[in-house]
Order: sequence, then C-alpha cells, then structure tokens
Amino acid sequence: MGNTQITFIGAGNMAASLIGGLCKQGVNAECIRASDPGLGALEALQNSYAIRTFSDNGLAIKGTDVIVLAVKPQVMRHVCEQLAPSITQQQLVISIAAGINCDSLSRWLGVNAIVRCMPNTPALIQQGVSGLYATKYVSAQQREQAQQLLSAVGLAVWLDQEQQIDAVTAVSGSGPAYFFLLIEAMTAAGIKLGLPAETAAQLAKYTAQGASTMACQSTLEAAQLRQQVTSPNGTTEAAIGTFQNGGFAELVEAAVRSAASRSAELAQQLSE
Ligand SMILES: NC(=O)c1ccc[n+]([C@@H]2O[C@H](COP(=O)([O-])OP(=O)(O)OC[C@H]3O[C@@H](n4cnc5c(N)ncnc54)[C@H](OP(=O)(O)O)[C@@H]3O)[C@@H](O)[C@H]2O)c1
Repeated sequence: MGNTQITFIGAGNMAASLIGGLCKQGVNAECIRASDPGLGALEALQNSYAIRTFSDNGLAIKGTDVIVLAVKPQVMRHVCEQLAPSITQQQLVISIAAGINCDSLSRWLGVNAIVRCMPNTPALIQQGVSGLYATKYVSAQQREQAQQLLSAVGLAVWLDQEQQIDAVTAVSGSGPAYFFLLIEAMTAAGIKLGLPAETAAQLAKYTAQGASTMACQSTLEAAQLRQQVTSPNGTTEAAIGTFQNGGFAELVEAAVRSAASRSAELAQQLSE
C-alpha cells in the first residue's frame, strides 16, 4: 500500500486482524494508526505492531488517506457525527460494520467516497472472505487501497450493487456457522455410529478443512468434485441420496434466504 496512511476507528477484534494482516504483508507500522476509548486494546496493538495509537478519533484521522470504521454498528452514527468536523472529501472511508448503508454513512460524515465491506469471522485467522461495494465517488486508486486492505485478511470480492451485501451476509457473513452446524451434526452422527467423541470431532473438522481446501484449489466446480467422489451404488451415493431426498438444497436455500431478509431488516433499523 506504499505510504498510504490508514487510521482504524475502533481497535477491537476485526481491526486487530486487519492490522496484523497488513503488517504481515510488509506495510510499514508508521503508516497505521488506531483510535479507541479502551487503553488495553491500544496498548496490545502498540506492543505487537508498534503502530501509532490515539484516544481522540478526530485527531487520529488528521492527514490520513484511509479511515477504516471498525466499531460496532450500534455506535456508528455517534462515531461518524463526531468525525464529521475533522474529515475531508479526499479521505476514503471504509466501513466494515454490518447493516449500515453508504447513504447513512455519507449523511452522518458529510463525505461521499465510501467503501462498504462485509467480512466474516475467519478474517480473524486471515482466512476470511469479504464482499466490497464502492460508491461512484471512490477513485480507482482508492478501490485498490480497499482491495489491498481487505486482502490482508483473506479474499476480497467486489459487488456491483450495494443491495448484494445482504446476500453476501447470508452466504459468507453467516456462512461459517452453517459449516460449524454441519461439523456438529456429522460429529454427533459419528458418535452414534460408535466412534469416540474426540475421534468423531477430528474426522468431521478435518474432512471439512480438506474438502474446502480441495474446492478452493481446484478449477472444477463443487458439483463436479462431488460427482468424482460419488461412485454408483457406493457409500457416498447412499448418503447424498438421503440428503437429496430430505430436500437438502431447498433447505439450504430457505436458510440463506431467511438470513438475507434478516440482514435487510436489521440494515433498515440501523440506517434510520
Ligand atoms: N468480528 C467479526 O467476525 C465481524 C465480521 C463481519 C463484520 N464485523 C463488523 O466489524 C465491526 C467491528 O467488529 P469487532 O468484532 O472488531 O468488534 P469489537 O471487538 O467490539 O471492536 C469494536 C471496538 O470499537 C471500540 N469503540 C467503541 N466506541 C468507540 C468510539 N466511539 N470510538 C472508537 N472506538 C470505539 C470498542 O471499544 P469498547 O469495547 O470499549 O466499546 C471496541 O474496541 C462491527 O461493526 C462488526 O459488525 C465483524
């Protein structure tokens, strides 16, 4: 990111992961600032990465190129209104908060160059995936800065329409929990089939990891990979048939749809 100056407002879990990812990528710690009312969070970041820390948000954004809003959605309006007198039109604002739309951010801050992102929890171990949406006021260089920032904690995928953030929230934002649920159910089934609990859990977790890595590394689609490991009249076919007869795809679609509607509903409440 060259000498781009980045300020994080909120120094919690997500900010710490992004800062860790940026430092790992070789970004100079002198280019990174963080502001938070909690001294403990700031001290930890200072000790780990030697970044500059602030307890005054307005002071922290002075002269910075990129401002990352990494506070909880509930305090976002207050934080933005507090930043408004100090912010300039040249600064890029990147919000990682769930449910706050660009219009509200723009209204509260009084600026237009905004990127809204939806990361997910595996970003905490630099294995996340984020959906990104930029307003038309974001320059090509600023898009690149946002892309590099989110790439520090995993894969970054651009969206054409802000509304698609609800679908991203439903697929990848809430998605890790769906896989945890599957791991949970497979572990329970393994135990019922007579495996020791620890063994069943290890088999389920590492199968998820291996399958996911194969799917990410392969040029084949998931359906093709599945077909390749499903021999006629074999064990996998017996299980897949049971899933399909139970309406698995329809159930997943209904679950993802309900997450998307809930995301839209919460966004509506938070942006008022
Ligand atoms: N964690 C995830 O997996 C995840 C995934 C997707 C999106 N997000 C989004 O990322 C954002 C941050 O999440 P997080 O998990 O990192 O939360 P977090 O750990 O609670 O971090 C938020 C930080 O902001 C601080 N803060 C509160 N008021 C502030 C203010 N006025 N000025 C500056 N800092 C202030 C908080 O301090 P106190 O603790 O003292 O209040 C806390 O240290 C949220 O909006 C969330 O929706 C998170």
